[in-house]
Amino acid sequence: MSERLAVVTGASAGLGKTLARTLLERGWHVLGLARRDASLHGDRYRHERIDLADFDAVESYFTQRFPRDHDLAAVERVALVNNAGVLEPVGLLGNVSLADLARAMAVNATAPAWLAGYFLRHARRTRLRILDISSGSATNAKAGWAAYCMSKAALRMAGLVLAEEAQTPGEGGPARDVAIISYAPGMLDTEMQQVARSARPADFPGVQRFIDVHARGELIPPERPTLEMAELLERDDLPLYSELRYTP
Ligand SMILES: NC(=O)c1ccc[n+]([C@@H]2O[C@H](COP(=O)([O-])OP(=O)(O)OC[C@H]3O[C@@H](n4cnc5c(N)ncnc54)[C@H](OP(=O)(O)O)[C@@H]3O)[C@@H](O)[C@H]2O)c1
Repeated sequence: MSERLAVVTGASAGLGKTLARTLLERGWHVLGLARRDASLHGDRYRHERIDLADFDAVESYFTQRFPRDHDLAAVERVALVNNAGVLEPVGLLGNVSLADLARAMAVNATAPAWLAGYFLRHARRTRLRILDISSGSATNAKAGWAAYCMSKAALRMAGLVLAEEAQTPGEGGPARDVAIISYAPGMLDTEMQQVARSARPADFPGVQRFIDVHARGELIPPERPTLEMAELLERDDLPLYSELRYTP
């Protein structure tokens, strides 16, 4: 019973790929989910190419194939890292399409919330850590970023709801070892920042700040917060719910 399993969404790039690599180096088994491959290797890494906005594919994978491949009762610690995320559509409300808005909500909030519930229900006999990758945009409004701000706010609220559900009778009660962490990693040097600074000012009036932060070399390499994230997943002294952010 010494196996630790981390399910990392968005393991093909950026923060998720760096975290998956860090967890592998620390001895975790990792299941990475993304549309693209991750080019991560080793006996303890498995990858599932999946689009989180394809709800049928997500549900059928977790209700049918995942339980055959991973015996949650046999692992000592399970971590779900809700990391996959999209910034687009970038544009003023009314200019972005309803379908694109809904897709961003699906990837950034709806599928992660469902996954968190899945693990709360199914990882009953192990320590469970749910790490929701958040952003200042969960609480700060930015013109042109409705999809991102709304979905990050929804993901934060889903974590708060899950913390309530984790304490209800039938879910194991407060004694169950569950920790839900909403974690803001800071402005990272990843593909998502390229998308942010390449927006037209008409679509994202605040774009210049993102161009300037990049030009000043102030973006954070994803390796920095991943160390803290891995340590959080391994800690035993966390409250049921916490909100943390990376501080350089
Ligand atoms: N970059 C920042 O400055 C920053 C700041 C605060 C918070 N964050 C948060 O940090 C997390 C990681 O962001 P990042 O900067 O590493 O972004 P990134 O480099 O753009 O990587 C995003 C990851 O999400 C996956 N993804 C996107 N759409 C998906 C879908 N439909 N289905 C499955 N996977 C999907 C991508 O994989 P595929 O394309 O292969 O599907 C990729 O692995 C996000 O939650 C983001 O909101 C980032």
